[in-house]
Amino acid sequence: MKLPEHIAKYLERVAGLVDGYIYARVQGKPDDLYNAALHLIRAGGKRLRPAIVVAVTEALGEVAEKALPFAAAVELVHNFTLIHDDIMDKDKFRRGVPTVHELWGEAMAITAGDLLFAKAFEVLSDAESKGIPHNRITRALRTLAHAAAVIAEGQAMDMMFEELEDVDIDDYFQMIYKKTGALFEASAVLGGLVATSDESILSSLSLYGRNLGIAFQIRDDILGVAGKEEEIGKPVYSDIREGKKTIVIIYALSQLEGEEKEKLMSVLGNRQANREELEEAANLIHKSGAIEYAEKLANEYAEKAISALSVLPDNDAKKILIDLARFAAQRTK
Ligand code: IPE
Ligand code: IPE
Ligand code: MG
Ligand code: MG
Repeated sequence: MKLPEHIAKYLERVAGLVDGYIYARVQGKPDDLYNAALHLIRAGGKRLRPAIVVAVTEALGEVAEKALPFAAAVELVHNFTLIHDDIMDKDKFRRGVPTVHELWGEAMAITAGDLLFAKAFEVLSDAESKGIPHNRITRALRTLAHAAAVIAEGQAMDMMFEELEDVDIDDYFQMIYKKTGALFEASAVLGGLVATSDESILSSLSLYGRNLGIAFQIRDDILGVAGKEEEIGKPVYSDIREGKKTIVIIYALSQLEGEEKEKLMSVLGNRQANREELEEAANLIHKSGAIEYAEKLANEYAEKAISALSVLPDNDAKKILIDLARFAAQRTK
């Protein structure tokens, strides 16, 4: 799915608001550290997580401005995880530019990630100046801190699965919920906390974010073997090279037999594999039907996310939330 025009506009508007907020708050010395920390933010990105914060806030009748500390905080946590993830996954580019560790080295990249992680919580606490009640700010702090811990658990599982031959589908779902779903879940809840302490609304928002996040990561796994590098801005086939247990790889291993299965296994996790071998492995994954299987699952999770929105009043911002869920499941970037 190409980015629908109205969604592109919404994301642009959010980027305008949130980026300004981030640039104003993330400043200091030494220059190298701050340039490394802001490198990916300057390079682009979809700003999907802050868009969810803002759209939830607007759907609940509050103005976008009020959501900015929370929206900036989730984008900062996201960028922190990206910098560290690219070290872990040994990836050389993202958002169409060289990764932070490629340009500044691993040690500075780790520190730049730490800086963004700390800044996220400093910025979140600006919510006080927006008139959000203290109890809701404390709840937002706890929600985001918890999500960050869950992301670490998910990232550890993702790495440990590289060494396993068989990863079952339930473990896969737990891993992607943790590494990716948890931050989308926190984003939706933080958007809710800008406007309300109503538990039934907050728990529905949590379900929305969680299911959207799962759909989003399934789609990411598809793009990891079927995406176009110019479009996604990051390397395809890196999941195959690193032996990641993505949904399309797990499915292909369960369906292929004999020589084909052996061929795929021999390329998985082989850092010496050349482009031709990686393409051959990707072709086998396509042949197994894994892409269609995963596309169907991603759409199902997006629809689950959308069902959770029935608690919200019908308005333009809710329509954005619905379309963001479908975009998460069908995106090509
Ligand atoms: C990439 O997230 C990391 C995953 C959770 C798959 P995005 O695809 O949202 O990255 P940007 O922010 O648009 O670059
Ligand atoms: C996504 O990791 C989760 C986090 C970054 C925390 P991936 O490794 O699957 O995502 P990409 O493909 O590098 O963006
Ligand atoms: Mg990665
Ligand atoms: Mg990773």
